Amino acid sequence: MMNTFKLNTSTPCSVSSWLLRLSVFLVLSLPDSKGKAIWTAHLNITFQAGNRIISELGESGVFGNHSPLQRVSGAVVLPEGWNQDACNPLTNFSRPEGADSWLALIERGGCTFTHKINVATEKGASGVIIYNYPGTGNKVFPMSHRRTENIVAVMIGNLKGMELWHLIQKGVYVTIIIEVGRIHMPWVSQYVMFFFTFLSATVAYILYCAWRSSMPNSFTRRRRQVKADVKKAIGQLQLRVLKEGDKELDPDEDNCVVCFDTYKPQDVVRILTCKHFFHKTCIDPWLLAHRTCPMCKCEILKT
Ligand SMILES: *[C@@H]1O[C@H](CO)[C@@H](O)[C@H](O)[C@H]1NC(C)=O
Ligand SMILES: *[C@@H]1O[C@H](CO)[C@@H](O)[C@H](O)[C@H]1NC(C)=O
Repeated sequence: MMNTFKLNTSTPCSVSSWLLRLSVFLVLSLPDSKGKAIWTAHLNITFQAGNRIISELGESGVFGNHSPLQRVSGAVVLPEGWNQDACNPLTNFSRPEGADSWLALIERGGCTFTHKINVATEKGASGVIIYNYPGTGNKVFPMSHRRTENIVAVMIGNLKGMELWHLIQKGVYVTIIIEVGRIHMPWVSQYVMFFFTFLSATVAYILYCAWRSSMPNSFTRRRRQVKADVKKAIGQLQLRVLKEGDKELDPDEDNCVVCFDTYKPQDVVRILTCKHFFHKTCIDPWLLAHRTCPMCKCEILKT
């Protein structure tokens, strides 16, 4: 009885130790997790407005997944004609004279990133800036562009792209310095979040287990209640001190069936409701454990 009770309370806590082991495993497996680091690109945009040279620096882009991480600079050049996606392999770029290095500013869509980056590279661009679809605000993501030459490719938001496009369309000479920004590891935040959720759940579970084992559960409470009732019932049973001449002392009478000893004068005996009697010191522990008369099995709690 006691054993099964112990087993029952320890089962949920072995679940928690299993959870703990799983968390440790998760921590150890973190470096192998999928999810790439994202490198932001700082764009230092410089152009002339009237007599003034305006220069603005912002962390407004992200490097493509297959782009080398290096600084590149040059005049910003648009594809010729109305189509800005540079998907046509014959796309020309209107390079300003005197610019020794230039960066192609291309719209997303129409063909793969790899395709448009290669078109610009073939025309001699030092880097490619691709701006996102209309309606995406300043959202960016790291592009996938396998099989491109060793050329820097960054993505910028649609709003930023359109801003530059309008300037260049108006004939403003814009130069950009692309610099490597900071690293972002999206998987770190995700996994760390996940892990901490997991850890707090585990800790909560362990605390719950500790609380549970410190609290007597209904089973132990009931056992204690029964024990108290038995003690009370025993206390209510009649006691007698044997004296010389009592018939219980007759040598022909039975011995105490619990200790097999004979009854002697001055012995304290307890008389059960079934009229059977025994040494008090013998019968009390027996009754606590069995609750029945050792002779006739009558239950002391019933009466
Ligand atoms: C941006 O580029 C311009 C021109 O090269 C330079 O003068 C300026 O210091 C740069 N700005 C920053 C913040 O690096
Ligand atoms: C690019 O220029 C070449 C030579 O001037 C011309 O043949 C070609 O059609 C142009 N490409 C586009 C897409 O306009």
